[in-house]
This record gives sequence, C-alpha cells and structure tokens, in this order.
Amino acid sequence: MKSKEIREKFLEFYKKKDHAQIPSAPLVPDKDSTLLFVNSGMFPLVPYLLGEEHPEGKRLVNYQKCFRSDDIEEIGDMRHTTFFEMLGNWSLGDYFKEEQLKWAFEFFVDELGLDPGRLYVSVHRGNPDTGIERDKDSVRIWKNIFKKRGVEAKDVDFAEKEGMKGGRIFYYPDKENWWSRAGVPENMPPGEPGGPDSEVFYDLGEDLGHHKRSPFKDNPCHINCDCGRFIEIGNSVFIEFIKKENGFEKLPKQNVDFGGGLERLAMITQGKTSIFEADIFLPIIKEIEKLSSCNYRDMVRSFEIIADHIKAATFILGDERGVTPSNKEQGYFVRRLIRRAIRHGRQLDITSDRWLSAVAERVVEVYKDIYPEIEKNADHIYENLEKEGSEFQRTLKKGLKEFHKLNEKKEISGEEAAFLYQTYGFPIELTEEMALERGQGVDKEGFYREMEKHKELSREYSAGSFKSGLGENNDETIKLHTATHLLLASLRKILGSDVYQEGSNITSERLRFDFSFDRKITEEEKKRVEELVNEMIKKDLLVKKEEMKLDDALEVGALASFREKYPSKVWVYSIHDEKGDVYSKEICTGPHVKRTSELGKFSIKKEEACSSGVRRIKAVLL
Ligand code: ALA
Repeated sequence: MKSKEIREKFLEFYKKKDHAQIPSAPLVPDKDSTLLFVNSGMFPLVPYLLGEEHPEGKRLVNYQKCFRSDDIEEIGDMRHTTFFEMLGNWSLGDYFKEEQLKWAFEFFVDELGLDPGRLYVSVHRGNPDTGIERDKDSVRIWKNIFKKRGVEAKDVDFAEKEGMKGGRIFYYPDKENWWSRAGVPENMPPGEPGGPDSEVFYDLGEDLGHHKRSPFKDNPCHINCDCGRFIEIGNSVFIEFIKKENGFEKLPKQNVDFGGGLERLAMITQGKTSIFEADIFLPIIKEIEKLSSCNYRDMVRSFEIIADHIKAATFILGDERGVTPSNKEQGYFVRRLIRRAIRHGRQLDITSDRWLSAVAERVVEVYKDIYPEIEKNADHIYENLEKEGSEFQRTLKKGLKEFHKLNEKKEISGEEAAFLYQTYGFPIELTEEMALERGQGVDKEGFYREMEKHKELSREYSAGSFKSGLGENNDETIKLHTATHLLLASLRKILGSDVYQEGSNITSERLRFDFSFDRKITEEEKKRVEELVNEMIKKDLLVKKEEMKLDDALEVGALASFREKYPSKVWVYSIHDEKGDVYSKEICTGPHVKRTSELGKFSIKKEEACSSGVRRIKAVLL
C-alpha cells in the first residue's frame, strides 16, 4: 500500500466517524513555545486538550510533520528518523478508551490489512509514586477486541525481566507507557497535560529480529526490546491528567491523543524491513546510490543519516515559518544536519557539485502534493543547502590540509584544535573523529580552555583531573582495572565506536571511568552494558599481554587513551571471546588479572555527566 493511500485511508476512516480534518501545523512552533520543533500531532492542540473549545469540534484527525532531535543517535537502525509524519486523531472530552482502542485496531486490521495475530499491545502498569493506577480498563477492552478476532490475549507483567510468557497484553512503567510533550511525569512542568498510554506493536517475526545475536541474546525478548523483532506502530494516549505543583489532578475532560508513524506503516504494508526502503524514502536512497559508488545495504548508517538529515533540513528550511542556517535555535539544527550529512557524504565518496540539492529535489518530489510549502520554498531550500554546504566543504578541504600537517604528532594540542576551529570552522568533534582515525589524541580540555580565553565558546566545562591508571596497586585495584577494559569494550558495543576513554581513576573500592558520549545513557543501555561485562567475566577469558611498537599497536586497532604520553614500545592487553574474536584491546601499562573470572560480579553504581560531551560511570566489583 502506497503511503499516500495510507494517509487517505486514515483520514477517511475517521471522517466517517465524524472527525474534522485539521491541517498539519508548521514544523516551527510559535515564538513562545518551549520546544524548538513540533514533535507530535498533539503539540498544536495543547490549549484544547486543556479545555479550550476547538472551532472544528470535539473530534479531529490529521497528519502532522514532526521533528525529534533526540532520535538523532538512533539513525542507522532502519526504523528511526528525526523527521517523520504522524497520523493523529483526537477526542477533546468526547469518546474515550473503548472507542479509541477499538477504532485503532480496526484501522490496522481492516483498513491496512495487518494480521491481528501479529499485533501486540502495552498498557500502563500504574505508579504508586504519582498515584496513577494500573490501566485495567484498557486491558479489559483489548481482551474483548482480540477475542472477537479469535486471538488469544493473556495479560502479562514484567515481560522486560521475565519474557513474554505467551502474553499479548503487557504492562510497562512510565518510561514506556506515559506520554506528555515533556516525557515522563517527573520531567513535566506544572500546567502540562499528559496521561497513561497504550501502544500497538507489530511482530516482524523472530527471524527479522536480531535477538539471536549479542547483545540481546541472553535477555528475554519482549515487545519493548530493541532487538528489531517488534516495532511500535501506534500510541493511544489518554490525556486525562494535568501536572500541578504537588502531583497530578484530573483534567476537566478526558481526552484521547492518538499518533501513528506513517513511515513505519508504509514499511510494514509494503513488506519491507527498513523504513528507508518504503516508497517514502526509496527515491531518496536511490538518488544517493546514484551519487555515490556504494550500495545502501553495504553502508546503511551513512545512507540513512544522509537521507534523514537532508529530508529534515528540506522540511525545516522549507517550513511555513522559514528558517535559515545560523548559530542559534532552529537555524543551528539545520546547520548541524547539513554538516553531518556532508561528513557522511565524504564517507560515501560523493563528490558531485550540488549533490545536497539533488537529494533535496527527490524529497520535494515525494512530498510536494502533501506539503506544498516545500515546493513553494524550493529555491530557498536549494540555495541554503548549497551555500551552507559549499562553505563547509571549502573549510573542510582547507582545514584538512592543515590537519594533515599535524600527522606526526602524538596528540593535537588545544591551541591547534582551536586554530582549526577558528580559521577553518572545524568543529571539535570533527577534529577528534579524524584524529582518532589515525590513532591520535586531541587535548580537548586544552581546546575548551583556548576557546574560553577567546570567549568564543561559552560552554560549561569542568577541567577535572583525568589522571589515568592506578593510584595504588593491590588485588582489588588490579581487578577493577581489568573491569575498566571490559567496561570500555562493552560501552563501545552498546553505544557505538564513538565512545573513547577520557579518564580513569581507581581506588580499592571502585572504578571511575570517563568517556566521550554526548547524552545520558538510558537505563536499558546501562543494564545491557552491565550484563555484557558480566557475560565476559563468566566466560573466564584469558587476558593476553604482548609487547609491541607503538605504531604497530595503533595499527592493529589497540585503543589508546588521549591523555597518555606513550613510549615507542608499549604493552597491549587483549581479551578475546570464546570464538577468538577480539573483545577488548588496549594499550596499557597494566597490571591485569590473568583470567576474567577472577573479577566476580560487576555492577554500575552511577552514570552522570562529567563535562561537555563526557560521561562518568562509577562501578564496583562484588
Ligand atoms: N502524542 C503521542 C505520541 O507522540 C500520540 O506518541
């Protein structure tokens, strides 16, 4: 089913049920908004959810363009994007759970033809801290809905720990089943509306999940597990609460806010396993394949980043409330999107002139009938893409020359990094990334100090002490030191290879490890890292020690700490898994334990921000 047809069917379905269609609001909200971009269909409707009367009535339907910058890190997994379209329907104090859940199900099954046996649902577990009760109503309603289709529907709790146990309806906490513009209850400011929600998931099949592969294989799979098997396709939020200074109160009216991701529905109804292969993205991917000599399937991440970022930039630049690249607010986001796309363009060897516009033209073609503003503003879009693009390509090229001159150095100094930034507009992240590609460190602390001197970058930055290595040498510190190596390797497995050591400090009681990463680690990620470390401990792996020339060590991919000054000959400690694949390999003075089983049980006690772009973990061995 073409995405155009899905949009139309959704509108028709709800219009037949007396819903008035309202237009998609601009992506850029009013000036007084707390968020920079509209992130959901309900965003422009907040005053009406709070009780104001909507001119079109109590039943509304639309599709809404949305941008979520928090999903920027997820791109590359075939199902996340920053820009997306949300199909939405609302009841403003009219119908409630009964109709909403029934209709959402009918739309998926009868209109889109999804197999009811492949649908699974989640409901709110309840939270004694906020006084919100378990959503038993939704469970009862779902049971009836499934029963009518002859599908068994057992409700199951704690699937995240115990697996699915043959269930179809699952209880989850606020993190999964509470919705407000600001997220979970504790993040909501007073006056913000929100409520428990119930999500529908589609089962892509066990084979399509990568649950058999690490890091998921030792955990039970469940519908909110990120292994790839289940994909969320719709969320019915029951907006019946308002946050007050000291807790929640019921709103005068019970509202429904439903949102479903169009791109995901297109992917499923078109029998694809990546949203980038659905009709809504394919022409964009094809264009990038034409411009590059690489194939999408070989370079998924770079393709998806370019396709997503240029699509998002096209919509932001071409918005009704037009935006131009700049150093602040929405303009800064476009700038970052374009620069990141260019960097990944380099990775795909894209060299043609005006390639950003070529990709954006496909975006305009795909969407011009639905969002005419991007065709109307097409000149502004192409002009700004090219202007921003060529400026950055130019500085990139010149800066690269300077950068290559620093080739022989062990570490790029703060002054040098600042020079690359001030003269060639080289963001510190770019300098750092490229430096690491050749096994070189960057004195980031020094960079920020320089920038502060010039008052060019007002960042909060604490120049903490990053002394590496061991303060004292006893059995406990040696064990914790080996645990630090397993921790870094596991962080890189879960969070990606952009994670590097920024600092380490060990006492007999605990390890403290600082690493580059620019957001908070989720509970789920933290848990997975912990489990991976423990898995490696249990496997009783050998810790191997070899002497190597520094250059050779870097050549074989041994990780180095930025802040160390290494001699020309170094020790390389490596841990191989049971199949003989390298799990961890680091340049290090040691000492380390002989085998990982000596460590006992590893437990993360704390994860927090350390300084700009650096996180800190404290962990112990039990
Ligand atoms: N506002 C809800 C969401 O974005 C529907 O998931």
